[in-house]
This record gives sequence, structure tokens and C-alpha cells, in this order.
Amino acid sequence: MAYETIIVEVDDEVATITLNRPDALNALNSQLLGELSQALAEVDASDKVRCIIVTGSAKAFAAGADIKEMSEKSFVEMFLGDYFGTASDAIGRVRKPVIAAVSGYALGGGCELAMMCDFIIASDTAKFGQPEINLGVIAGIGGTQRLTRYVGKSKSMDMHLTGRFMDAEEAERAGLVSRVVPAKQLMDEAHQAAAKIAEKSVLATMAAKQAVNRAYETTLTEGLMAERSLFQSLFATEDQKEGMAAFLEKRTAQFRDR
Ligand code: CAA
Repeated sequence: MAYETIIVEVDDEVATITLNRPDALNALNSQLLGELSQALAEVDASDKVRCIIVTGSAKAFAAGADIKEMSEKSFVEMFLGDYFGTASDAIGRVRKPVIAAVSGYALGGGCELAMMCDFIIASDTAKFGQPEINLGVIAGIGGTQRLTRYVGKSKSMDMHLTGRFMDAEEAERAGLVSRVVPAKQLMDEAHQAAAKIAEKSVLATMAAKQAVNRAYETTLTEGLMAERSLFQSLFATEDQKEGMAAFLEKRTAQFRDR
């Protein structure tokens, strides 16, 4: 499928989706969100792909939802169109691990998109923010909920109420990003992380993602039960036998996703 606002590359079991609206700092318009949703579903369904990277440009991961497209919309259009909600649901359905590789601005919907991914690797130039308050609105693709879970109430309130930006160092300290690297190394670092993930059994990486995500959705007791069931069910797989045998035989495991 040919896309106009994103670039999709599949290389060595890793799919890289690059947001590509440079003139608008990768602002998320309905076309981009539709293409991103479709591309994510395609690479998620591909037998070849084992990990996905979502990235932008050096200057901007994404500077938010497209303000030009939104500015004149009515409540009825937003309510019936719901393209942010539709994209958010589509991204939430991706079962393979998704890494956000963030350089430059990740603002508003851009910050929210990064947070919808499974973890964020940031360049030292990254700037995160939820500046929707400056536009007379609030975050609309999960920012108030996800940022609060990532960094806690006080910092989340600060970000949403003042609209200030957080640099990469602060974002790492706050737990929003998992690693910060020099800008030039961002894609190498993301590819290395993705390649590491791609070496594992897809059954185990998908189960790990599902189990960690339960921590966001349910009580500790329910989450522990979900984890226990997933852990136990992996003993029905050949990859568990192979992984443990390889450890005992001091060799590298050859996972077959079975
Ligand atoms: N939507 C549409 N276009 C955008 C955009 C956005 N979110 N962000 C930047 N652009 C466009 C600018 O309009 C400009 O286009 P023109 O050259 O045609 O004028 C181009 O990208 C370059 O931007 P700037 O000239 O502003 O670049 P800068 O380096 O001076 O500033 C910036 C960079 C600080 C990121 C600034 O562009 C900015 O503040 N952008 C808006 C950030 C924002 O408010 N994001 C939240 C959007 S609302 C949202 O996301 C809602 C939600 O949760 C669903």
C-alpha cells in the first residue's frame, strides 16, 4: 500500500514507520492517523515483522494534532468523526512491541502517540509537552490519563496546566522515557533495541506486552492473576522448552514462535 504521510520500511524483522509531514512538523492530521493505523495493522499481521519502531524527523517526532485541520471543526464533526479515538484504538490493538524513537518535539498528540507506544527512546534534543491548554482545549488522545500514569499527578498537572515542555533529561528522570541517547545515535539505539526484541520468541514478547499493559488497566490482584496465567500458558509452547534447554546446554536459543 502506498502512503503519502508516512514511510514504512521493513528490514531484518523490524518495521520502521517514519512520520513524514516535514512542512507541518509531522502534525497528526486525519490522513496521517489513518495511514499510521493501517500500516501498524499491516506490520502487526506480517509473519516477518517481530518489532516495530515509530519515529519522526530530527526536528519533530510530531508537533501535535494538526491545528489547521481542527481549528474550524464543530462539536458534531469531532464527535461523529472521532478520528483521534479511532487511531488510538487501532494503535492499542497492535500486539507486537512498538518502540517510539523520539527526536525534537513530541507535543500534544505527538507526546500522546509516543506514550501509546510500548516504550520511548529519546534523543537528547527531545522535548515533550501537552500544550493544548494554550489553544483553549485539553489533550484529546490520552494525554491526561497516560502522562499521569507515567509521571504522576503533580508533574502531569504541571505539564497540562502550564503547557510547558519537558526536556529529555527531565523526561528520563520522571520515567516517561526509558533511555536518552545523543541525537545522532537515536535510530541506531532504537534498531539495536528492536533487534534484541526480535531475537526473542514472539509468543513471549507478546505475552510480556499484554501482561505489562494489564498493570494500567486493572487491580494488582487481577494483574498478578493475568500475569500468572500468561506465564503458565507459555509452558505449552515449544519456545519455552527451547529457551530453557538452550540455557542449560549453554547455547543460543533458536525460537520458532511455536
Ligand atoms: N498543527 C499544524 N501545523 C503545525 C503544528 C500543528 N500542531 N505544529 C507546527 N505546525 C506547522 C506550523 O504552522 C508551520 O507551518 P507554516 O510554515 O506553514 O507556517 C510549520 O509547522 C513549522 O512550525 P513553526 O514555524 O511554528 O516552527 P517553530 O520551530 O517556530 O516552532 C513548535 C515549533 C514550538 C513545535 C511550534 O510549531 C508549535 O508550538 N506547534 C504547535 C504545538 C501544539 O500546540 N501542539 C498541540 C496541538 S493540539 C493537540 O495535539 C490536541 C490533541 O491532543 C488531540
